[in-house]
Amino acid sequence: ADSRERLDAIIAAHRDREGPLLPILHDVQAEWGFIPEEAQPVLAEALGMTRAEIHGVVSFYHDFRDKPAGSHVLRLCRAEACQSMGADALADEVRAALGIDFHETTPDGRLTLEPVFCLGLCACAPSAQMGERLLGRADLGKVQRMVAEAGA
Ligand code: FES
Repeated sequence: ADSRERLDAIIAAHRDREGPLLPILHDVQAEWGFIPEEAQPVLAEALGMTRAEIHGVVSFYHDFRDKPAGSHVLRLCRAEACQSMGADALADEVRAALGIDFHETTPDGRLTLEPVFCLGLCACAPSAQMGERLLGRADLGKVQRMVAEAGA
């Protein structure tokens, strides 16, 4: 009931504005870290939308996740400077090594992989980030070491 009350409060805070769904989803994700499956019919009902519409929006915007993130999030820069320095090949290697794609979490729930658009480390592209840690001139070995050192 507690989380239902919090959800209702979030809905109430936005429902009268224009385009309430995105701000509501942002608040829901800030509250729970993801958009819980159970919240989706409640939102649909409150906003006069179908569950499929809500689900469509949640999956369209990669900012929203419908499952909790892993305990660690590894971000690989996908922006231009990094692209020109092999970010795509690095992403392929990392995805293969971890066995997950972007926006997915390893089965043990420890690591989520996300793309990011510029970490401000363009001069030492390609770059990656995990928590507070930034990695420049990243390669698979360095990324794997960073993941291991984080205990992910
Ligand atoms: Fe990758 Fe700027 S483009 S850090």
